[in-house]
Amino acid sequence: MTQLTTDNHQSRPIISVRNVTACYGDEIIIRDISFDVRAGEIFAVLGRSGCGKSTLFKVIVGLLQSSSGEVIVDGEPVSEVMEDESEKMLRKIGVLFQSGALFTSMTLAENVALPLRRHTDLPEKTIENLVHLKLSEVGLSGYGGFLPAELSGGMRKRAALARAMALDPKILFFDEPSADLDPVTSAELDQTILQINRSLGTTMVIVTHELASIIAIADRAIMLDREEKTVIGEGRPADLMKSEDPRIRDYFNRTPASRAPLSDDVDVPERAVVGPES
Ligand SMILES: Nc1ncnc2c1ncn2[C@@H]1O[C@H](COP(=O)(O)OP(=O)(O)O)[C@@H](O)[C@H]1O
Ligand SMILES: [Mg+2]
Repeated sequence: MTQLTTDNHQSRPIISVRNVTACYGDEIIIRDISFDVRAGEIFAVLGRSGCGKSTLFKVIVGLLQSSSGEVIVDGEPVSEVMEDESEKMLRKIGVLFQSGALFTSMTLAENVALPLRRHTDLPEKTIENLVHLKLSEVGLSGYGGFLPAELSGGMRKRAALARAMALDPKILFFDEPSADLDPVTSAELDQTILQINRSLGTTMVIVTHELASIIAIADRAIMLDREEKTVIGEGRPADLMKSEDPRIRDYFNRTPASRAPLSDDVDVPERAVVGPES
C-alpha cells in the first residue's frame, strides 16, 4: 500500500479474518468469512439474531477454534496466541460481553482494578490512579465506591467498559452493547464509545442487530446472513443502506415481510426508510 494519508492508522488492518468457517458439532454456523478491520476504526458486525455474529466474535477473540481459515490480530495468528501468549492477547483485546457482568459484591473501583491486579505487577497507588482515570474516561468519576446494584443499567455498562479498558487494549470488542438498554441510554453509550475511539484511537468492533447505533457511529460494517451463513455486504453504513441487495435493504428498512421478532425492533430513522412501497 502506498496510500498517502495523514490518517495513517485508518488504513492498516489490525484484524484480518481469512476464509473462516466455524461449526458447533457437525453444524456449520459461519462459512468462508473474510474481512479486515482497520486500525482505529469503529467496525460493526450486523445481521439478524442467529446469523452467527457472536460465533464470529468468539473465533476472533480466540474463545472458539475455527474449523478452517485464520484470524490475524495485530500481526499474530489468534489460535497460537491463545495457546502460548494469552497474556499478551488480553492486553490487545478488551472484551465487553452482552451481559457485561460486573462482580456484584465488588465496588466499581474493585471491578476495574481486577484485570490490573491479575495481569500486572503495578503498585497499589498506580492501580488506584489508573482506576480513577478509566472511570473518568467513561464518565463515572466519583462512582468508584459504588456497588453495581446501586447504579443504572447504562452506568453498569460503562463500568464494564472501563474494566475492559483497564489494560489499555488496542482493540475493544462489544457483543450487543445496547441490549437491555433503553434508546436514550443506548445513545449515551454510543457517544461514550465514539469519544473513546476518537480520543484514544482504540479500534472498536461492535456486534449488534441495532440500526440506530450503527448509523450513528460505525465507520464501516459487514452484514451476515443466516441462510447464506456468510458476509453478504460490506461498506460504510450509509452505502450499505443503499444496497441493491434486497436482503440488505430489508434489514435496514425492516419491511413487514422480513420483520424480525419484537426483541429485534428499534426505531428506524426517517431517512433510512427508502424501500419499496408496502
Ligand atoms: N454453543 C452452541 N452450540 C450449538 N449451537 C449454537 C451455540 N451457540 C450458538 N449456536 C447456534 O449458532 C447459530 C448462531 O448463533 P449466534 O452466533 O449466537 O448468532 P447471533 O449472535 O448472530 O445471534 C444459532 O443457530 C445458534 O442457535
Ligand atoms: Mg449474539
